Amino acid sequence: MSLSRIGVLTGGGDAPGLNAVIRAVVKSACNHGIECLGLEDSFDGLLSPDRVRVLRPQDVTGILRRGGTILGTTNRGDPFAHGDDGHDYPTRCLERFHDLGLGALVAIGGDGTLAIAHKFSLRGMPLVVVPKTIDNDLPGTNSTFGFDTAVGFATLAIDRLHSTAEAHRRVMVVEVMGRNAGWIALYAGVAGGGDAILIPEIPYDLRRVAEHIAERERLGARSSIVVVAEGAAPTDGSPSVVTPGHEGRLARLGGVGAQVAAALEDLTGQEARSVRLGHLQRGGEPTSFDRVLATRFGGKAVELILDGEFGRMVANRPPDIISVPLDDVVGRTRLVPTDLDLVRTARALGISFGDAGQDKAAGLVNC
Ligand code: F6P
Repeated sequence: MSLSRIGVLTGGGDAPGLNAVIRAVVKSACNHGIECLGLEDSFDGLLSPDRVRVLRPQDVTGILRRGGTILGTTNRGDPFAHGDDGHDYPTRCLERFHDLGLGALVAIGGDGTLAIAHKFSLRGMPLVVVPKTIDNDLPGTNSTFGFDTAVGFATLAIDRLHSTAEAHRRVMVVEVMGRNAGWIALYAGVAGGGDAILIPEIPYDLRRVAEHIAERERLGARSSIVVVAEGAAPTDGSPSVVTPGHEGRLARLGGVGAQVAAALEDLTGQEARSVRLGHLQRGGEPTSFDRVLATRFGGKAVELILDGEFGRMVANRPPDIISVPLDDVVGRTRLVPTDLDLVRTARALGISFGDAGQDKAAGLVNC
């Protein structure tokens, strides 16, 4: 098949490294004589004529280090979920795809974009997906770009909290993102020297965390740092929700950090404060690791297109970048295995996860 033009779009929440993928796609496609069209605001770019623009190599020069996405994004842009207003949006997208003369599409996104891309793929749209999320929770790939940047930022924040916590003999609770997965909390908690790490995969009992903090105090520690994932929940409760899910949109999580801080203050008698890092974890420049991973993903996406391998997602399987069928990854989430070596190592160092595993590590206190 002769291929002269492809489309590229970014969907879902942004993640540092999106621009690096766009740049890699545009530059490598162009070097194969293929023109790139940038579709703005995810699949909405296939619905309105003014949201499409040609991307030449000179248009992507200098964007490698930039956060966000030059194409814009949305996590509300599912053409398959556009209510009952009489329009057949998926068919309109497919028609527009062909009218634009596109031979293939690179969809860069997370679980939501994967699901939409999978449906279009089943309807015959030749596409490949590049996985993106700071949450690092997509199956089939060892890592997603954006995660390293988010962990780096959260680690720096925790570093800064140590000194003020110590000065005031306080418990500092840091709430990080991650949705239903605890990857960011686990990595930033370990990298930042947290004393307790609460993740969705391990329901917590705050009495255990309080005992741990009290024991640290007895041993002379002036402060404790608790890192909590936004999706973490107590053994007898559920995650803290800001806005419940509706019309196909996921619930917005948040607020657990403040709850944990208030409860720990009651249980320990030690003053506690909470900090929610929120979208600061998604903004800003990607780390060099994320720039390289994103660039490799973009290059691989174009390689797949040149080989006519559609309906696939690029994936990081060190030392290689491979691809996996969308069928194998759609609708699935990669959670932290509770026996992961990093979890075991953290426990061995005396870090509490607020569960019975603390008893097994009896006598081990992170001081
Ligand atoms: O999936 C990435 C993520 O940042 C999650 O960690 C978080 O729960 C969610 O997106 C926030 O999304 P929004 O942009 O809708 O606030």
